[in-house]
Amino acid sequence: MDPLRLEGLAGRDLLSLADLSREEFAGLLDSAVTLKQNWKRGVRPPYLAQRTLAMIFEKPSLRTRTTFDIAMYQLGGHAVLLDQASIGLGVRETVRDVATNLSRWVDAIMARTHAHATLTQLAEHASVPVVNGLSDLLHPTQAVADYITLRERFGDLQGLELVYVGDGNNICNSHVNAAALAGVALTVACPPGYEPDAALLAAARARGACVEVVHDPREAARGADALYTDVWVSMGMEEESERRRRDFAGYTITPAWLEELSPRGVFMHDLPAHYGEECTEEAVYHERSVVFDQAENRLHAHKAILFQLLAAEAA
Ligand code: CP
Ligand code: NVA
Repeated sequence: MDPLRLEGLAGRDLLSLADLSREEFAGLLDSAVTLKQNWKRGVRPPYLAQRTLAMIFEKPSLRTRTTFDIAMYQLGGHAVLLDQASIGLGVRETVRDVATNLSRWVDAIMARTHAHATLTQLAEHASVPVVNGLSDLLHPTQAVADYITLRERFGDLQGLELVYVGDGNNICNSHVNAAALAGVALTVACPPGYEPDAALLAAARARGACVEVVHDPREAARGADALYTDVWVSMGMEEESERRRRDFAGYTITPAWLEELSPRGVFMHDLPAHYGEECTEEAVYHERSVVFDQAENRLHAHKAILFQLLAAEAA
């Protein structure tokens, strides 16, 4: 069965989940599940034959880089890797010039940047869709994979209790946006001063998001259906490491925390993990962990995103 083509997404950028409607987000998850099932059954149409994706990385990556590349290949297209050391985005030439050049050659651009503003500039000047592969503010493609994982585990997500313990960073901000789209009840437990982006949180609440921010992580985690964490020190924040390690004392998730989840509760992490900081290695390899399902679902999330932005456009 072909995944449903969401006409509304064709040709659009995907910089933030806040730009999607509830129906579009649900449709993206549906199409990822269909593409995943089809692939596993050997149904593999080359929806993106001869289409191309440029992948720009200002920061390191294992999962995003590998899975976008494989996603293009499995859909019949091709990905070109452009690392910052080679292209010097905004250094060797302007963001506008890079966007204008790439638009003459490729069908879409995926970029991982430091400043979110670099992504919005790329999108402003590119005539092809731009996908956010992580910025300092957001990581939307990760949240799509996380929600595929939650759907596989729990089916209906309405009212599911997801607790995010840690820094109110790019992962957390995208989960605030995703919770608004899926009707998930999100609790963010963080030290004072590490809350999710205030403007983004207010906007998500205005769209109906049920998000609570608290400062007692262990108490928040008790009874959760899904407990999520991410690094205390994100890429580019290394000079804050010492202060952050002090401020996040008591936020290390161990298997003991996982014993206190709801009976169906799962542990989630986007990876890479900094073992001994936000969690232990035992937590990631615990029987309640779905961490590697999340990693696997990055591939299927990216196939769905590329299919919707590009194949639906060509249809
Ligand atoms: N989770 C994630 O985005 O991993 P990478 O940084 O390895 O791409
Ligand atoms: N918050 C982390 C996510 C890595 C995928 C970072 O930005 O480094």
